Amino acid sequence: MGEGGRTGSVTLGVATTQRAVLGAAIVGAGFIGAVHARSARMAGARIAGVSASTPERSREAAERLGAERAYGDAEALVTAPDVDVVHLCTPNHLHAPLAHAALAAGKHVVCEKPLALGAAEAAGLADAAASAGRVATVPFVYRYHPMALEARARVAAGELGALRMVHGGYLQDWLSTADDDNWRIEPELGGASRAFADIGSHWCDLAEFITGDTIAAVCAQTATVVPERTRHDSARAFEAGSNGGNGRRPVTTEDLATVMFRTAAGVLGCLLVSQVSPGRKNHLHLEVAGERASVRFEQERPETLWIGRRERTEALWRDATYLSPAAARHTVVPVGHPQGYLDCFDAFVADSYAAIGGAEPDGLPRFADGVRTARVTDAVLASSAAGAWVDV
Ligand SMILES: NC(=O)c1ccc[n+]([C@@H]2O[C@H](COP(=O)([O-])OP(=O)(O)OC[C@H]3O[C@@H](n4cnc5c(N)ncnc54)[C@H](O)[C@@H]3O)[C@@H](O)[C@H]2O)c1
Repeated sequence: MGEGGRTGSVTLGVATTQRAVLGAAIVGAGFIGAVHARSARMAGARIAGVSASTPERSREAAERLGAERAYGDAEALVTAPDVDVVHLCTPNHLHAPLAHAALAAGKHVVCEKPLALGAAEAAGLADAAASAGRVATVPFVYRYHPMALEARARVAAGELGALRMVHGGYLQDWLSTADDDNWRIEPELGGASRAFADIGSHWCDLAEFITGDTIAAVCAQTATVVPERTRHDSARAFEAGSNGGNGRRPVTTEDLATVMFRTAAGVLGCLLVSQVSPGRKNHLHLEVAGERASVRFEQERPETLWIGRRERTEALWRDATYLSPAAARHTVVPVGHPQGYLDCFDAFVADSYAAIGGAEPDGLPRFADGVRTARVTDAVLASSAAGAWVDV
């Protein structure tokens, strides 16, 4: 694996021609970069190149992820001739510049959430993707849990009746203590919003996806409950600091948010987001109540959908025989053999690549969806600062 060199085997300056085997670039090789590389390979791509924060880390990552080449320079990777699709898995501040560079070079882009540091920047990216005519998707992968798809199908079929209320939350604990650190803490790297942009965005996307409605106005409070943290400059997501740290850093981004909202259709809702809730690992939960029934999806128990009715309440298991076609399509092993997060990622990347091949997969989250959640995030910060309702 040579760093930054070219194979010379591919002559497409701009990737406008569909190759039989897609060449994927993985930019950023931490927690989610490895997940993207795995799913890309599962979907039939070759990992043409990888880049991380330093040339040495890029070489290590190329070895670990089985990439053909390591790149010391991310921009060289996202514009490389043998790359068809770029997966942006870096800290958030690099999403927009690298996505613009990739789109300008004719690449398709899978860009992590939050799409950009704010809604205006995110909208610029969606415009650039539309102008370039490239497929541009965002891994709001919780959409791909079969039981989340089942909830969506039942809402769309009218089984719940008119919707009355949407509520839930997304709670984690990996930033609970003053010794927990990550690049997400720094607004220059992660953005002005941390907990909400990082995980609240997932919840909002899933709520809008399942209900088919949009969040129209918010009344939010945010809090930073760990005002100072030990600096662990190389701390990875979900990993506790492994050394004594490197001084202290003041924290300005929010640890948690409480949000009341109303949707375009006039449904009321409520959402709790936290990265400092001891014992809560990745607790995304969402409940939709209608006039005849309610549904509840919990990400950490994705094999069942809770369906509540006045006369009868049940846990519906992920048995494809009894599911809607959309949910059955993403059922990859029989009920009782748990599916999870990685299966969602595989399905999302496979659908992204199918779209590159000309298909129109239902429910594929695209840049426009990243813009939607960025607008909600901006509104949450504005509402919290003003102490008032803010339209999205
Ligand atoms: N969709 C999801 O479910 C999901 C889950 C986790 C993270 N994410 C998103 O993925 C992104 C990365 O998060 P993570 O948890 O993997 O973080 P991480 O800290 O584990 O990894 C970030 C990686 O980016 C690399 N990097 C830093 N600067 C770089 C540069 N200039 N060029 C190339 N690489 C560089 C780092 O070396 C590191 O390997 C974030 O935007 C995050 O919001 C999404």
